[in-house]
Amino acid sequence: MPAPGFGRLRQSEVYVGGARGRMPRVPFGPEELEAAARRRMSRAAFAYVAGGAGAELTVKANRAAFERWHIVPRMLRDISQRDTSVELLGRRLHTPFLLAPVGVLELAYPEADLAVARAAAAESVPMIFSNQASRTMEACAAEMGDCARWFQLYASTSDELIDSLLARAAACGCEAIVLTLDTTQLGWRTRDLDLAYLPFLRGKGIAQYTSDPVFQRLVDDASPAPAGRVTLAALRTLISLTRSYPGGLWSNLRSLRPRLAVQVFTDVYSRASLAWDDVGRLLERAPLPLLLKGILHPDDAERAVRLGVAGIVVSNHGGRQVDGSIATLDALPPIVDVVGRRIPVLFDSGVRTGADVLKALALGATAVLLGRPYVYGLALAGEDGVRDVIRNLLADFDLTLALSGHASVADLGPDALARD
Ligand code: FNR
Repeated sequence: MPAPGFGRLRQSEVYVGGARGRMPRVPFGPEELEAAARRRMSRAAFAYVAGGAGAELTVKANRAAFERWHIVPRMLRDISQRDTSVELLGRRLHTPFLLAPVGVLELAYPEADLAVARAAAAESVPMIFSNQASRTMEACAAEMGDCARWFQLYASTSDELIDSLLARAAACGCEAIVLTLDTTQLGWRTRDLDLAYLPFLRGKGIAQYTSDPVFQRLVDDASPAPAGRVTLAALRTLISLTRSYPGGLWSNLRSLRPRLAVQVFTDVYSRASLAWDDVGRLLERAPLPLLLKGILHPDDAERAVRLGVAGIVVSNHGGRQVDGSIATLDALPPIVDVVGRRIPVLFDSGVRTGADVLKALALGATAVLLGRPYVYGLALAGEDGVRDVIRNLLADFDLTLALSGHASVADLGPDALARD
């Protein structure tokens, strides 16, 4: 239903709040938001979230691509009633964005995915649960009522584990599976390498695994690798991963299980051999519509459509995988040309403002995924911080849509933009 503008509502909430002495919880500018989160988070946590691969040229390119496109506002078009909704996989969403799958959210805030799930549900924005989540999909789904959620899958080397994760996703009400293609190995992430910090080795971000019966059987069958020299740092790591592991701290400390779980995780996490045949097999087995995330070439998009996937996500993982790879906004138009309207084309990497959302939609994206900004909101104010980031993005988008002369997302097309 078209409505008279969330943007104005949110503005008054903020300005009237200010007049009564209530200051905003999270900054509005994307750079200020990131800077505030940086001050709040530990060095290693911020490095993990903000960092990209190599010289971070692709992180910058993702943003620079938005700067090359300009909105050309049209006047006198009666924008008093607005509709920011989009249709996606049979659902009408009141925002044209979803929350991207982001792993290891405990680095930002102790309640991690649970706080994000509550915020998503409160704002009716779909959340994509990460395969590398800090909290289980079942616990998050339980917070979400009938708000849409999807599950993001990494292709593990264990087919049995994949089947178990997919069955769990269907059982807890997920409406789609997003298979991420671009992380069959971790990219060369210079900030994490500088700090010699990988959260998974400390037992963080493996909750979907440790809660899984198939994974637990793999742990039962594993034999421990020889332990290295006992140092103070190694002990600290052991305590950290013991704390993250389900069950009591003391019984975990006595057993080898938490360390074994990390070892098994490292073995099964990803399938470097992943190829098109695997996608075909997954399509046959998946109990839910399957989308492919990480598509950047039109030929790959065409092949995905022909295989029968339910959608694709044009993404370079926020510049975290291949430094020097193409900015997603540059990759989008040729992919949209090829795909047409056959399946939804989602988009992420670098979306920070309402104008960014408008540009991606005008270039043919069906909806966009929001990544790092909601993690920064989480770091600053937990569930409320995520809610504020969502509300600010929707308000900004609504006003940008209106002020550029559009009453609805359906009105947007490439003619809304001019390129440098
Ligand atoms: C991610 N991303 C990601 N993607 C995915 O499919 N599974 C995952 O577990 C994660 N984990 C993850 C952790 C962190 C800290 C970040 C920043 C990103 C990628 C994510 O879904 C999305 O593609 C990017 O975040 C988009 O880039 P921007 O907009 O955040 O720059």
